[in-house]
Amino acid sequence: MTQYVAAIDQGTTSTRCMIFNHSGRVVSSDQVEHEQIFPKAGWVEHNAEEIWENTRRVAAGALAKADLTTADVVAVGITNQRETAVVWDRTTGKPVYNAIVWQDTRTDKICDRLAGLGGGQERYRDKTGLPLATYFSGPKIAWILENVEGARAKAEAGDLLFGNMDTWVLWNMTGGVDGGVHATDPTNASRTLLMDLDTLSWDAEIAKDMDIPLSMLPEIRSSSEEYGKVRERGALAGIPISGILGDQQAATFGQACLSPGEAKNTYGTGNFVLLNTGTEKVLSENGLLTTVCYKIGDKAPVYALEGSIAVTGSLVQWLRDNLGLISTAAEVEEFAKTVEDNGGAYIVPAFSGLFAPYWRSDARGALVGLTRYVNKGHIARAVLEATAFQSREVIEAMNADSGVPLTSLKVDGGMVVNETLMQFQADILGVPVIRPVVNETTALGAAYAAGLAVGFWESEDDIRANWAQDKQWDPAMDDKVRDREYRNWKKAVTKTFDWTS
Ligand code: G3P
Repeated sequence: MTQYVAAIDQGTTSTRCMIFNHSGRVVSSDQVEHEQIFPKAGWVEHNAEEIWENTRRVAAGALAKADLTTADVVAVGITNQRETAVVWDRTTGKPVYNAIVWQDTRTDKICDRLAGLGGGQERYRDKTGLPLATYFSGPKIAWILENVEGARAKAEAGDLLFGNMDTWVLWNMTGGVDGGVHATDPTNASRTLLMDLDTLSWDAEIAKDMDIPLSMLPEIRSSSEEYGKVRERGALAGIPISGILGDQQAATFGQACLSPGEAKNTYGTGNFVLLNTGTEKVLSENGLLTTVCYKIGDKAPVYALEGSIAVTGSLVQWLRDNLGLISTAAEVEEFAKTVEDNGGAYIVPAFSGLFAPYWRSDARGALVGLTRYVNKGHIARAVLEATAFQSREVIEAMNADSGVPLTSLKVDGGMVVNETLMQFQADILGVPVIRPVVNETTALGAAYAAGLAVGFWESEDDIRANWAQDKQWDPAMDDKVRDREYRNWKKAVTKTFDWTS
């Protein structure tokens, strides 16, 4: 009997379930979007209960679409938008507040306060690999405890649990109030600002700085082992959940970047470049993050350097939903193709401040270089180019940190179907850009982690063997043009600083 592995991908804009066969090919997929809640400028929330409901729907949907039953699936993996924080009551299973999303900047004052304790923005760098920034979960938990009525008392009484979306989904899938497993993996834990990268355990001193009771935090297990079985009735009931990876680490795994020096760039809501640095933890001197890449069972953890870019694909959504300049995301390429170049326009989408390599929460978006000449096509091009310029910035930082320049870039995610963007990416980087056959590498990576734990795949060599190239774009831009364009971009970035007080 042919068997399969399922992966739940709880992302920023949607939740998906994908089913993979032994060759790592997608046999079925179901997806539901959830509401993006923007209560104030700079705030972004999700309804965690809506997300849990969607998770159940897509699990059933994916099985039904391929005419499969639970008996055909041997393991379930979970991958997720990272950093997004949900706090819930362990006795009722209800969140005490909406999930605060990774893009949310409301914790800037909390971050300033923590920086003021000494050490500034780098206060926790040595232990956690991260700068103090609104991006990470710890300050979001602190905000909930400080601002939601009754939350602090309940947390101190041991009644509240914290989780990133992996933990929320795992706890609910394994029974919720009825014995749900409260656990996470080191890739997700490494994004909280609360985990020590060497010991892979929660750091009591940092938790004390943030006034977060340790009893709220999930147990940190590995990325590939059995955490529990799906308890609820219905789709996937009884199947072991045996893989958890934050979505960017999952994509790195799914791209088979399993040796030091291998890197990928995922084009999603934001862009995230991860470079596998092996079992060595490299601390960045150029604005990147140090993060856990994966930890397979009892093996030593593998680390990565990461360049996180907050806004890339979501800029296209903004063009569609907030400005109405396009009616579908695909139209951005059609308009971009009507012009030769950006016509002098540059858009820097600092909607959540700027992440790597700047870490400026005071930055806000800018559209510069406008003249009467600029039309909709130029703006569409500038939107696509912003993704490629930001990717170059983090890859330059990576080259500087590692001392070994990248010679090609593996890409994946929703925007890699955009050929205009892929060509421009190769042009502005000056190295080839390579797309694999399966570009759903995030879900695939989680499936691999789950399948390895139950012996469906034997070793990482199976993952390497499954990877196959679809298409390559080679740089074709004149050096002078490349240099001029990048210089202009850098100048545009400087216009985004100091916008908040
Ligand atoms: O760190 C945030 C990242 O995990 C979100 O990824 O693909 O949901 O935009 P994505």
